[in-house]
Amino acid sequence: MNNKKSGGASSVPFEIEATERVEALLKRLSLEEKIGQLNQVGGAEFAPGPKAEDQIRKGGAGSVLWLNETKRFNELQKIAVEESPSGIPLLFALDVIHGYRTIFPVPLAMASSWDPAVPEKSQTIAAKEARAAGLHWTFGPMLDIARDARWGRIVEGAGEDPYLGVVMAAAQVRGFQGDDFSDHERLLACAKHFAGYGYSEGGRDYDPVNLSETQLRNIVLPPFEAAVKAGVATFMSAYMDLNNVPASGNRWLLRQVLRKEWGFDGFVVSDAFAVANMVIQGHAHDRRDAALRGIKAGLNMDMSSYTYTEGVAALVEEGLLTEAEIDELVRPILALKVKMGLFENPYVEEGLLEKVIALPEHRATSRWAAQRSMALLRNEGRLLPLSKEVQNVAVIGPLADSMEATEGSWMVFGHKPAAVTVLQGIRAKLPDAQVTFASGPEIRRDIPSWFEDMMAGATPKPIQTPEESEAAFQTALETARSADLVVMVLGETDLMAGEAASRASLDLPGRQEELLKAVAALGKPVVLVLLNGRPLSVNWAAENIPAILEAWEPGTEGGHAVADILFGDVNPGGKLPVSFPRKGSHAPLYYARNLTHSPEGSPMYNPRYWDGLPVPLYPFGYGLSYTTFEFSNLRVSQPQVKVRDSVTVNVDVTNTGSMVGDEVVQLYIHQKWGTDTRPMRELKGFERITLQPEETKTVTFQLGPDELGYWSTNAAGWIQDAAFFDIWVGADSLASLYTDFEVVK
Ligand code: NOJ
Repeated sequence: MNNKKSGGASSVPFEIEATERVEALLKRLSLEEKIGQLNQVGGAEFAPGPKAEDQIRKGGAGSVLWLNETKRFNELQKIAVEESPSGIPLLFALDVIHGYRTIFPVPLAMASSWDPAVPEKSQTIAAKEARAAGLHWTFGPMLDIARDARWGRIVEGAGEDPYLGVVMAAAQVRGFQGDDFSDHERLLACAKHFAGYGYSEGGRDYDPVNLSETQLRNIVLPPFEAAVKAGVATFMSAYMDLNNVPASGNRWLLRQVLRKEWGFDGFVVSDAFAVANMVIQGHAHDRRDAALRGIKAGLNMDMSSYTYTEGVAALVEEGLLTEAEIDELVRPILALKVKMGLFENPYVEEGLLEKVIALPEHRATSRWAAQRSMALLRNEGRLLPLSKEVQNVAVIGPLADSMEATEGSWMVFGHKPAAVTVLQGIRAKLPDAQVTFASGPEIRRDIPSWFEDMMAGATPKPIQTPEESEAAFQTALETARSADLVVMVLGETDLMAGEAASRASLDLPGRQEELLKAVAALGKPVVLVLLNGRPLSVNWAAENIPAILEAWEPGTEGGHAVADILFGDVNPGGKLPVSFPRKGSHAPLYYARNLTHSPEGSPMYNPRYWDGLPVPLYPFGYGLSYTTFEFSNLRVSQPQVKVRDSVTVNVDVTNTGSMVGDEVVQLYIHQKWGTDTRPMRELKGFERITLQPEETKTVTFQLGPDELGYWSTNAAGWIQDAAFFDIWVGADSLASLYTDFEVVK
């Protein structure tokens, strides 16, 4: 990719033409204007720093963020193009994480589909809408592997596993960017947060991260490398200290790994204010020193801390930096602007967005994505699917009619939620039934999020008094009492997961579990629908509520998708992309641990606490269906292969039930000995398949050097050992169908 022509007929290959244009531009830019290209200014009122227009007019801005108004984009672009000395157009950037107007399931939910077509198609539409609004660049995908469910930003990523993370990373980059930077229906993507942000100590957002090179290379970095291979245009450096060096000043990450080893030729933007933050972190002694460290580390663009515009010119004058070092960082920014065709087409057509969002396939894709993302966690006595003949349904819970919770975390700046809620979805599915609703007591964070002030639609309501809460509790109970069937919609509000949304407990917040128990005691059939952006330790429900659907934060069409599944129009097939701990204090909890003792009790998890086994409530990869599947005939092409050769693994999967359904066939390996110790299980292949009743399909996997090699501490590099390998294939990470093979020298 990257080498297609943006228009016009020329015999010069586009790459060369772009390079020549960049060099010509560089020649006519003053040092101040070059530094301006490295500066990203905040367009919102809350953003600190000088006024956006003033900076743009003097050529002091390369990009604008935190602005979401088409008309304003054109106004600012006009200043850049017509009034600034060199007329270089601006890049408009914003967090478009899971949709622009049509909202898709949150990224953790999309990963729960185990189907790369879900994020790819969703992000294609997100890009089309956002581009029609005038944006050029999104700050996504977030590729942080997260094994600590307490960390709020787990909602923005693909969960705990690097293999799944790699697949989802590449799919999102393809979706946002397509294969041509000059495509007017796409956005530049940004792989973030480079790197290690998901490993903050204690799951506390922004806290320092300490990771061995082995963990970095084998777990954290692979999705980022996959993004580079998929042609991602930009990277964002993380906020925190990685092994005592702030990620934004981390030369090893930005120069050695990203550019030298992976050959990345795009540019890196810092996270917001992160360059200046290096002073607070104790890496730089003042803002000027922070700018110096950022430039030296290879950080191209300063997101809104204005240290570059403030200090870099003087650093060059004093000889601490050369102009050539600045040119090196400006080049990829200009190159992308050229390749996008921004010089030819700097403006957006006003009114285009309204035409684009009216496309029916956007909502249809959102509904499909939500259906595919949901995971059925329990279905005792086959309570689900429900009959559409039901006469009287009570829909209960604080999230049942919440558009915010349905659209979920990271709403686009300035966006007004407009989702179909679960209540609305059920009402639409059962036009002739009586569908009653009661929210029950409110839920809210103990400590409010600062995003509440910033995000439209998330303005907090007045706090319920204890009396009001009790009255709401009783109303909910009465509503449930007069129904034949109860659907409880519980979980977390949109701002309970996401940035600055870590929590110590994973329990249902507020009085939700108390209400669930009281409703269950009425003796009616109860279905629990969870809306949440992180694993929740719903231990009581897992024992006592017969049907549980993990709906995540499913987006604009979420309520329809839930009703489609509850009433059997769609058979659920999603699988958890992350283990569900029984307690917050069990985090980090993940399946791919190294074995330290011979397994006792459970085959995979040793009892390590005397006050409760840290076995997951639901394991990684878990999810049920309305039909049943049988795995058989697991076989390897040969019992022994040579290092660097591949082995083929086949398995037969049969739908043994009476309904068409999807199964995600998952392959796990375990290397039994080697230069380093290896995890007791690692996902190395998966495929989501659809089977008719009684149909059998053979699923094939290849295991070669990419799957069997790893970065070794002992060898200080990438290796592949000659060793024995266990293989399991099945429906989740506890799969028991087994075979093995040997790799020999
Ligand atoms: C801070 C967040 O960490 C990052 O993910 C986001 O892209 C920027 N703010 C810009 O909004």
